[in-house]
Amino acid sequence: MPNQSLDDQHHDGIEELDNPLPKWWVYLFYATIIFAIGYGPYYWLGKGQTAVQVLANEQAKTQSSANGEATDLGKKLTAAAQNHEVLEAGQVIFTAKCAACHGPDGGGIIGPNLTDKFWIHGKGTANDIAHVVSEGVPDKGMLAWGKVLSPDDLVAVVTYVHSLADTSPDHPKAPEGTPIN
Ligand code: HEC
Repeated sequence: MPNQSLDDQHHDGIEELDNPLPKWWVYLFYATIIFAIGYGPYYWLGKGQTAVQVLANEQAKTQSSANGEATDLGKKLTAAAQNHEVLEAGQVIFTAKCAACHGPDGGGIIGPNLTDKFWIHGKGTANDIAHVVSEGVPDKGMLAWGKVLSPDDLVAVVTYVHSLADTSPDHPKAPEGTPIN
């Protein structure tokens, strides 16, 4: 089409109208502005927590409940150490389940000597012993007894092992691990 100005051309054949926007769209737009007035300050200035803060709080909670469990175990172990029945029950379990590897008096056979001052895992506190007995050392053939024994039996056998410290087994195995002092 020669000699026609650009204004007159609708190259795609569509005519542009200046209709008002639909009401629902306009209200929605205002609503987002009002929402933002509340939302922004709540998260930037107010109490709103970011996902990172929420995660940190949850982790702190889990941590403190894990500490709570550990002190529960600590209390049980302390109480058990004073209790002859628990010690005797612990000895029965030790003879049945542990003596094959650690010797009837804890002097060590395949497993290490449990009476000396040398420890591979931890420093020989009741808590350290509870931890290694419960979790085991699967690579080395030491079972995770936490999955096998009831919590009471675990406390009993740990208490018994702890009571073996500084005793003199008949055939003590050579020390393994690091000395505790
Ligand atoms: C099949 C053999 C076996 C049996 C059964 C066994 N243990 Fe062990 N235990 C081991 C071995 C091997 C290790 C050394 C792991 C290592 O080298 O890290 C060990 C390590 C340990 C330790 C840590 C010693 C250290 O020096 O840190 C304790 C405590 C222990 N056992 C207690 C027990 C108790 C309690 C039982 C019974 C409920 C038991 N074990 C049953 C083989 C055994």
